[in-house]
Amino acid sequence: MERTLILIKPDGVKRKLIGNVISRFENKGLKLIAMKFMKVTEDQAKQHYSVHSLKPFFNGLVSYLISGPIVAMIFEGDNAILSCRNICGATDGSKANPGTIRGDFSLNIEENMVHASDSVESFKHEYPIFFNDNEIIDN
Ligand code: CMP
Repeated sequence: MERTLILIKPDGVKRKLIGNVISRFENKGLKLIAMKFMKVTEDQAKQHYSVHSLKPFFNGLVSYLISGPIVAMIFEGDNAILSCRNICGATDGSKANPGTIRGDFSLNIEENMVHASDSVESFKHEYPIFFNDNEIIDN
């Protein structure tokens, strides 16, 4: 069993696509074990994207994530990380395949609807930024 952190970013919330996005993960068979509707602080956003801190797009990435409410979730299932990244599609919405979240709802790399952990290590870094362990309901 693997776990992954999924964020529905501000564009997904603003466009009222929360239900659509959650359905795709649930329909695949993944189990929702934590969920929070929240506004991300600048500190949380910087921590979440710390791996990109030297990239030219870092500041834009942080200000985008704090620009409006998001939905943070943890899903559990076999190969959850790969399964969820397949459901999300390529990072750049203009290149993502139709049928994926980004392929269906995003035209670019900045406003790309969702974030999904890209490895077990990333998940371990990311999830405590959004959840305490006692907020995970896995039984
Ligand atoms: P996400 O899956 O949240 O993880 C890192 C984010 O950085 C990614 O989605 C994109 O939104 C963003 N990103 C990656 N590459 C670029 C880029 N070249 N220009 C702007 N944003 C980028």
